[in-house]
Amino acid sequence: MAAPRFHELEIAAVRNETPDAVAITFAIPEESREAFAFLPGQYLTLRADIGGEDMRRSYSICSPLQDQGRRTVGVKRIADGRFSGFAQTLKQGDRIQVMPPQGRFTAEIGGEHDYLLLAAGSGITPCLSIAKSVLAGEPDSTVTLLYANRNSASVMFRDDLNDLKDRYTTRFTLLHVMDEEVQDVEIMNGRLDAAKLETLASHGLIDPARADAIYICGPEPMIRAASTAMAALGVDEDRIKLELFTPAPGAAPAAAPKAKAATAAKHGAAVDIILDGARRTIEVDAATDTVLSAATKAGMDLPYSCAGGMCCTCRCRIVEGSATMDENFSLEPWEIEAGFTLSCQARPDTDRLVLDFDAQ
Ligand code: FES
Repeated sequence: MAAPRFHELEIAAVRNETPDAVAITFAIPEESREAFAFLPGQYLTLRADIGGEDMRRSYSICSPLQDQGRRTVGVKRIADGRFSGFAQTLKQGDRIQVMPPQGRFTAEIGGEHDYLLLAAGSGITPCLSIAKSVLAGEPDSTVTLLYANRNSASVMFRDDLNDLKDRYTTRFTLLHVMDEEVQDVEIMNGRLDAAKLETLASHGLIDPARADAIYICGPEPMIRAASTAMAALGVDEDRIKLELFTPAPGAAPAAAPKAKAATAAKHGAAVDIILDGARRTIEVDAATDTVLSAATKAGMDLPYSCAGGMCCTCRCRIVEGSATMDENFSLEPWEIEAGFTLSCQARPDTDRLVLDFDAQ
């Protein structure tokens, strides 16, 4: 399978969602429709030259499966976020590099299910796509969306959510939790932590035990709290999907290896990179570089997005030798068992390493 490549897409529309968030809609030309087919919950990686630096960031698709020919992502400005700040300046007609949809936080549409979606902040974006796609594509399914924000001004996609509420009165339940604004129902005030989730479950406002699938998306503390609560409520892990929006503290791509990798670091390993059927050898000093950072310095254009071990865009298979990852928030145990690694986190353990980016 070929590694994902960027396509230049035109922005068909930009809509302000909140004072610090926009929804950007891309027109998908006929010739790119196949490449941009997606499952609800997946994300797009955008790429731009910002201040002379090649930057890329992933943003979840919020449009439904049924919305052919357009893909919309939600971008919330984050403090000191150069890309998210740049994204707020984009306008209709601009053209930007976009990688086809990726990600595993997905829902297969079909059948009859009860979905529980737990979202915080901009974690609403993949959940909105899942909710819209399920409600339109599974006429007998139900969706409960619990959405945490600081206050009503920070609620993204308010109109879309209200529209779903009006359209699917018996199948869609929307619950807002806010920690900086007092709502009429006392139980809906405060932080969305494990205690809050257990309280909401004990009052019957959410029913994790009945849900066929639970999707959790937000910043790392919220993911951790929701996972703890689901475990306390006896929910099987295989019914839960998680999407981490921001890396855990210390998860940013490090120039120097973490302690675990440092013990295995080899200087000047010869690393063969197989990409799109071609092979090239680069030298990687594990004390100072990951495979991805060394390849970038060598002028190679490897596929990547978050560079933080979260998205799997940089996944490749170790064909020969071994490597240690600094962090891994995305590869499943079976993938590691099968020899896959994340090039943005991998540092060679052996003098020779062969990595296949074309491997499925
Ligand atoms: S680029 Fe996202 S995990 Fe490596």
